[in-house]
Amino acid sequence: MGNGSSLLNERLRQLSIFSTFAVKCKKMQILLTGASGFIGQHLLPTLLAEGHQVVGCVRQPERWQTRFPEVKWISCDYAKDHNPQVWLPRLLNIDVVINAVGIIRERRGQRFDDLHTHAPIALFQAAEQAGIRKILQISALGADENAKSTYHLSKRAADEALLALNVDAVILYPSIVIGRGGGSTTLFSAMAALPLMPVIGQGDQCIQPIHIDDFKTCVLALLRNWPCGEQRLELVGTQAVTFLQLMVLMRTWLGIRPTAAWPIPIPVMKLLAKINDWLGLGPLTSESLGMLLRGNCGEPAPVTAITGIKLRTVETSLRDNPATTADRWHARLFFLRPLLRLSIGLLWIFTGIVSAFIYPVEESYKLLAATGISGIWAPIMLYSAAALDCALGIATLVAYRIRAVVGVQLLLMVSYMAIISWTLPEFWIHPFGAVTKNLPLIVATLIMLVFEENNGKR
Ligand SMILES: NC(=O)c1ccc[n+]([C@@H]2O[C@H](COP(=O)([O-])OP(=O)(O)OC[C@H]3O[C@@H](n4cnc5c(N)ncnc54)[C@H](OP(=O)(O)O)[C@@H]3O)[C@@H](O)[C@H]2O)c1
Repeated sequence: MGNGSSLLNERLRQLSIFSTFAVKCKKMQILLTGASGFIGQHLLPTLLAEGHQVVGCVRQPERWQTRFPEVKWISCDYAKDHNPQVWLPRLLNIDVVINAVGIIRERRGQRFDDLHTHAPIALFQAAEQAGIRKILQISALGADENAKSTYHLSKRAADEALLALNVDAVILYPSIVIGRGGGSTTLFSAMAALPLMPVIGQGDQCIQPIHIDDFKTCVLALLRNWPCGEQRLELVGTQAVTFLQLMVLMRTWLGIRPTAAWPIPIPVMKLLAKINDWLGLGPLTSESLGMLLRGNCGEPAPVTAITGIKLRTVETSLRDNPATTADRWHARLFFLRPLLRLSIGLLWIFTGIVSAFIYPVEESYKLLAATGISGIWAPIMLYSAAALDCALGIATLVAYRIRAVVGVQLLLMVSYMAIISWTLPEFWIHPFGAVTKNLPLIVATLIMLVFEENNGKR
């Protein structure tokens, strides 16, 4: 009898655990904006694995349909969708809205106030009208009352508007989120992999990264147990480090032997950032530099208190996700990628200019004659080939239709080699490698295609 009742009690306990779990893990319909981004792409499979139904809201839904057929993909454009009426039909049957859209630098048609303020506010207002109570806004650490940058101010405007609505809003303020595919991880690991690690000034800026896995776990915990009332939660790891320490940690993670830091004076960094404001390359801007200089540290205790999730140090989270050969290759190739395109582009332009204006025309005509081209066809051939070389070089520099450009480059190189082999075979044994250099150039051109096409995205 005693045994029977304890078995019954145990069974009841299991049932009660199960029912609590079932209530807490109520399956929901979640609208995830920015589902194609670093954070969105990590959240998406996690939400699906939890049994939720996800509506992925992206600019190009057709690109995602085959990857995640179980997701309903819909189109949105934060640059334009500033009216709640546009959002209302997208919110049919939605239980939770997660906003993970954002940019780190403005580009043509991509303004902070549109993407971080106007569109999210329209989305939040529509959600309130549709009776959706749960809204998770991914803001950014520093989007507070001391915010100064346009990035932070634009985020803060949306956060404040959300808090003014009659919904249960949770606003997350992540510090730098690290993890494979993240913009910061990509850049920092590439910097850490250089022969000398560049740091801003003395590299003493405070930084408190959170790993994307911890980020996901917190979001899941919040969805299981949505907190009452508005919540503003900093999302940071449990270890505040300096920028220099982070570089050392990243280098150790990559398994590259230690090296010295290369302090770049802050005024020089500011100048570089200013130049890059104009060039538009990568994430370095006057704003992003200002944000780094201001520091990016916070307090992990509140989010742990609410979610029960014990966050990790950056060191532990890196160790828990060991770097692979692919990580090392990516880090080491990162800064070589633009150099490769630049050098190939300049090579074609230079060849065109030399052929047309510098190399003695008579010598060029002699070479053409050896291949059977003479008379009126010689100048036509010489100058049109030079013009084509320059055009291919310029197209390479600006990465215009790179697949087609590479196709023509390969065709030309192989054709030149075939013609020279047939008509001027002595060039194969030229001491300057006039023909043999084409072999590594063909391979380098193919590597450039891999680097540049779609920039590795999707
Ligand atoms: N990652 C971090 O370290 C970090 C730290 C603090 C805060 N945050 C915030 O977290 C959010 C997500 O960051 P993330 O790292 O995932 O950024 P991300 O990888 O750059 O992704 C940004 C997302 O925004 C989407 N997007 C950009 N312009 C859009 C537009 N006009 N209309 C609709 N969608 C648009 C992108 O879609 P496409 O694929 O179409 O470009 C992408 O899905 C951002 O708000 C960011 O500020 C991130």
